[in-house]
Amino acid sequence: MHAEQINMKTGTKFIHAGTEPDPSTGAIMTPIYQTSTYVQSAPGQHKGFEYARSQNPTRKALEEALAVIENGKYGLAFSSGVAATDAVIKLLSPGDEVIAGNDMYGGTYRLFTKVFEKFGIKFHYVDMQNVANIEQAITANTKLIWTETPTNPLINITDIAAVAVVAKKHNALLCVDNTFASPYLQNPLDLGADIVMHSSTKYLGGHSDVIQGALVLNDANLREQLYFIQKSCGAVPGPMDCFLVLRGIKTLHVRMQRHCENGEKIAHFLRSHPAVGEVFWCGFDDHPGYEIAKRQMRGFGGMMSFTLKDTRMEAATSVLSSTHLFALAESLGGVESLINHPASMTHASIPREERIKNGLSDSLIRLSVGIEDADDLIEDLDKAIGSI
Ligand SMILES: Cc1ncc(COP(=O)(O)O)c(C=O)c1O
Repeated sequence: MHAEQINMKTGTKFIHAGTEPDPSTGAIMTPIYQTSTYVQSAPGQHKGFEYARSQNPTRKALEEALAVIENGKYGLAFSSGVAATDAVIKLLSPGDEVIAGNDMYGGTYRLFTKVFEKFGIKFHYVDMQNVANIEQAITANTKLIWTETPTNPLINITDIAAVAVVAKKHNALLCVDNTFASPYLQNPLDLGADIVMHSSTKYLGGHSDVIQGALVLNDANLREQLYFIQKSCGAVPGPMDCFLVLRGIKTLHVRMQRHCENGEKIAHFLRSHPAVGEVFWCGFDDHPGYEIAKRQMRGFGGMMSFTLKDTRMEAATSVLSSTHLFALAESLGGVESLINHPASMTHASIPREERIKNGLSDSLIRLSVGIEDADDLIEDLDKAIGSI
């Protein structure tokens, strides 16, 4: 079933991935197996499920689906995106080194610097738009390259295939945080990555009603190590949340099509607005990563950020507080549009001087463009920008 599903066309794949009618009732939707344990007929005689931290049928269906939609062999679901990232870093030992992007989700940076550095893991942060920077940072201890593309919040692009070549040459694993693109737009395993990570909270769930994370990979040995970490450390999602993400995946392709259409309209509207400074969106043909994005993605998505010509913080605050359809909130990837201030919200855990050095200004505004009618979204932004 799994191999057949990988070869399906996108829309069919997203709807059928990992799900089969429930064997006991024929229910078309995977039931929510709200149970902590499973009855055995004799010690060790069970149906493949012993204790729900290790196995749960709803989670199993989701993990199958995650593998299918990322063109991988194995999926693992976690209780959050950061729990999935945490599991990957736990593959490492003290003394090991990681090369990570200098522009990425603030919570990933916080996990690396505030939790794992004290266990003796060393992190190097480089601008991954230039693969040579990665090559330069490699040492004999480099075990992992961690990249996010497009990045949060500056929408920088990393050439996944080129980084995979460097990783292979130096026997390091390559993990790609594919949250911003979603599997509809980009499949890093096909480009040579070893592990794909998702905050399923975002596009996979798609409805702002669940916190969850995912890893997808091809190597059986690596899967065993990560499954061991998943069950030993216990950051597993509950069955209700697995159901919600399974349901979200079924409409991922149609949602993403609209996110992309709306994203394009709003990026162009912002760029033509006289009060807007820079607009960061990888679908502009003069974006530095445009050619790579065109090659490795199937569309440019609905995530973007922008500055105002008036660089005072009060101007940004006025826009952030004046939208009505764009809700001021952390997170992204839901059907509703969100507006965010990275410096004080999603990226507040990155020290200011680090942020500024890497181009994340205090007045940067990030948008997660939802799937409402684009004209209404444009009007909302136009009024808010007019409030300055
Ligand atoms: C790119 C990216 N990676 C990882 C995460 C962490 O995911 P979660 O919030 O599900 O733990 C986020 C959350 O915003 C994110 O934007």
